[in-house]
Amino acid sequence: MGIVKLHDKFFKPFISSEEIDGTVERLAKEVYADLEGEVPLFVAILNGAFMLAADFLKKYPGDCEISFVKLASYSGTASTGQVEQLVGLNENPEGRTVVVLEDIVDTGNTLVEIHRIFSGMNVKSLKIATLFYKPEAYKQQLNIDYIGMELPHKFIVGYGLDYDGLGRNLPEIYQLKEKDMINLVLFGKPGAGKGTQAAYLKEKYSLVHISTGEVFRYNIKNETELGKLAKTYIDGGELVPDEVTINMLQAEVEKNEDAHGFIFDGFPRTTAQAEALDELLHGRGMEVNATIALEADDEVLIERLLERGKVSGRSDDQDKEKIRNRFEEYNEKTAPLMNYYKDQGKFYSVDGIGSIEEITTRLSRVIESLEVVSSK
Ligand code: IMP
Ligand code: MG
Repeated sequence: MGIVKLHDKFFKPFISSEEIDGTVERLAKEVYADLEGEVPLFVAILNGAFMLAADFLKKYPGDCEISFVKLASYSGTASTGQVEQLVGLNENPEGRTVVVLEDIVDTGNTLVEIHRIFSGMNVKSLKIATLFYKPEAYKQQLNIDYIGMELPHKFIVGYGLDYDGLGRNLPEIYQLKEKDMINLVLFGKPGAGKGTQAAYLKEKYSLVHISTGEVFRYNIKNETELGKLAKTYIDGGELVPDEVTINMLQAEVEKNEDAHGFIFDGFPRTTAQAEALDELLHGRGMEVNATIALEADDEVLIERLLERGKVSGRSDDQDKEKIRNRFEEYNEKTAPLMNYYKDQGKFYSVDGIGSIEEITTRLSRVIESLEVVSSK
């Protein structure tokens, strides 16, 4: 049993065939204990219950009959709420004990339809037996007489259950795998190579690089509402409030719902911003998985920046004093932030001296040691 891919989604092993077998056996015995002396008519609900029906019947120790009704309500991984009867019952169940065999009860919409189907048929009694039941998804009041196993509100496939037609043949149950997200915060003094490394990491792990500076420039240039708002502060010589910045970042995150994660660069710069970022991510079921600081000796960085300044012409890269001031500022501002992440066990530091590949390798080692990762 390993990870299974069906269409566009991944599924992970969840319930073994041995466990299913034991559950089906228990279910059959429970039903038999109640109905001894009768010849029940089992009605399996197609398509999903075909595998259960076969196994259940083999384990049922008394006389019984079986028939099938075909209902459909699912499209993809969500119930449509509309239940259609595609194949009806041929037998006359009047006066008989009918036991419906369901693979799974989810919202309960199908159960309502089943009750409707049998309501005019004068059955002696109608009982419901289901292999799986998702209590958190169930929206009906109807009684379920026999339950094999209660499951969390997560989509499953296998043992008759499908995802858009596929997966019914799997002998075990697999659960939809939530996407593994890696969210990183990169720290580093000017010249430490954050931009260069972010470009490699985003390729390697399918991440989206969110550089706060670029996000600002983009919003201002394109005159978005947030960009215009930010500009009023900048033009007035004031700092852009955290709330405006975080709203811009939120818009970036929302633009990239399919991303495998984000690399935040240039944000957060304060503990308050780190808290705001946590709140933004937690609201979407994500978190910062690691913050990584690219460490390098000040003298080495100064050499690098002076070289860069010669090529780029950036004035702040050409003056040693200005460079030292930026380092000072970094030390002062980042220290409390590092503590914030250290307290959460999420802080890593990586030697930033070496070739680009060497540094990428060091960063990858940290990333791949995180529990969440699946490299592409
Ligand atoms: P309900 O009408 O919402 O209770 O859903 C019942 C039917 O939806 C089942 O008989 C299945 O065919 C399908 N279904 C519900 N949950 C799942 C699931 O997790 N995987 C595959 N099919 C499901
Ligand atoms: Mg079904």
